[in-house]
Amino acid sequence: MKNLLILTLFIFTTSCKTTSKNKKETGLIAERAMVVSARIEASKIGVDILKKGGNAFDAMVATELALAVSYPYAGNIGGGGFMVYRERTGEIGALDYREKAPLASKKDMYLDSLGTIIKNKSTLGATAVGVPGTIAGVFEVHRKFGSLSIKEIMQPVIDLAKKGIVVTEKQEKRLKKHRSNILKINKDSIHLTKKWKKGDTIRYFALAETLTRIQKNGRDEFYKGETAKKLAAFLQENGGYITEEDLAKYEAKWRTPTTFQYDNLRIISMSPPSSGGICLSQIMNSIEPYDLPNFGHNSTKSIQLITEAERRAYADRSYFLGDPDFVSIPQKKLMSKKYATKRMSNFSFEKPTPSEEVSHGNIEIIESNETTHYSIVDQFGNAVSATTTINAGYGSKLYCSELGFFLNNEMDDFSSKPGAPNMFGLLGAEANKIAPEKRMLSSMTPTIIEKNGNLFMVVGTPGGSTIITSVLQTILNVHEYKMGMQEAVNQPRFHHQWYPDDIKMEPNGFSTEIKEKLQQIGYKINEKNSLVIGKIDAILVLPSGKLEGGADQRGDDKAAGF
Ligand code: DON
Repeated sequence: MKNLLILTLFIFTTSCKTTSKNKKETGLIAERAMVVSARIEASKIGVDILKKGGNAFDAMVATELALAVSYPYAGNIGGGGFMVYRERTGEIGALDYREKAPLASKKDMYLDSLGTIIKNKSTLGATAVGVPGTIAGVFEVHRKFGSLSIKEIMQPVIDLAKKGIVVTEKQEKRLKKHRSNILKINKDSIHLTKKWKKGDTIRYFALAETLTRIQKNGRDEFYKGETAKKLAAFLQENGGYITEEDLAKYEAKWRTPTTFQYDNLRIISMSPPSSGGICLSQIMNSIEPYDLPNFGHNSTKSIQLITEAERRAYADRSYFLGDPDFVSIPQKKLMSKKYATKRMSNFSFEKPTPSEEVSHGNIEIIESNETTHYSIVDQFGNAVSATTTINAGYGSKLYCSELGFFLNNEMDDFSSKPGAPNMFGLLGAEANKIAPEKRMLSSMTPTIIEKNGNLFMVVGTPGGSTIITSVLQTILNVHEYKMGMQEAVNQPRFHHQWYPDDIKMEPNGFSTEIKEKLQQIGYKINEKNSLVIGKIDAILVLPSGKLEGGADQRGDDKAAGF
């Protein structure tokens, strides 16, 4: 192993409480192939698949399922996600395995008779659950691109579930924080609510059994087989909406990724029902004409410019974006450079544009809203960028003990009521209203970047509404501010999303001078609700052709490679 892995420098810090000056570190460097994910166990399983001769797609299946075992906080088979790929030939594509609203869904299903949002109904327990897409997603990827057998790919994951996962300090804290809600929501006692401590090993036998059945019977086991029957019955018993019919009807969908140019970069990102690609393009188009390197990294001027671009893009997100199978999205117009120039025409460095003065742009429409990310580059040159979620940490907190996994609360990503904020404070409108079988709008932004026609970066993150802006800042850190991958990931981050009209900033990441300057100009700074913004896992192709991993130290994230 020692000749395959060169770990140049890896300084472990437990928080992001330091400024950029002392963050110049290099991530794992690998010669040919790499997986970066939220847990070392998942990264290693992905890399082992590559070492066996599997490709990035085989590794995607293995990593996604290994995260379901090793990182139940967000990794899942009870949720969904998005994957963007770029083959070694340059061919690109995207898979949407996002959850869907159950057939029994109604536009006002989370409102009482007075039209008021019923607290927790779209966030806690069986009523919050969307039809899961993860198993359909990984099997679809395997059907189209797999080179090793499902048996071979899934076996190490099943073995991991039986062997168990060693609890980290961060996991101990997470379980402690969510224990009372998990206990409240579940009728049975849940093994995860035991007072697990750092260093303990949690074994997942029920999940291992479910995965073994899926390994044997294929994707239909989850959607039509014994697992489907048990899951539908469990959700019904707990007052949920999902039926066997809902599961049987679920399909993952191939989508055309959203692509755009920024300088000499071609950004390939997720298309609707994720807002990621479109929103990222709008922000990048808006800032492209400015000389960011000259303003300086995280300088007042850079923060102002990026904030104003974000404000405008998120106002549009709220109004225009939803499931493209249900609403028509003026994508071309929203992504045009001309539209960005027009949207930025009232921007000034003198003062902020108050969000109440920013509405969605004027577009003529003919007819007609806790997660984990992993990045993979294989030894053949294929790249996979995938973000997967059950929405909140441990999703709806509903855990099916018999099957061994948490169910999502993705229904909260819909707009339950126009103008009312969801759990991320995002305001929704008509385009993202609830309808049977509709996919809820997402912010997930799995992204691949080409530079001068060659693979350059694979990037993505969790973080709800802050996903898009975290991906943005990581790209800018590398491209505009000439940082390496790990260094770019380490930098303190900020975020603006139109409403609430404040700049969220990672505490202690920004100097008092910069914050005071922004406040003098008229910006509100919010460091309270954003201890951590995003958790980027990314890979950079270095000029030498080697790969540098950026594994976010805000979590337990790790890169593995050879
Ligand atoms: O799809 C979305 O945008 C959200 N469900 C993602 C949730 C998330 O990233 C939570 N992590 N902090």
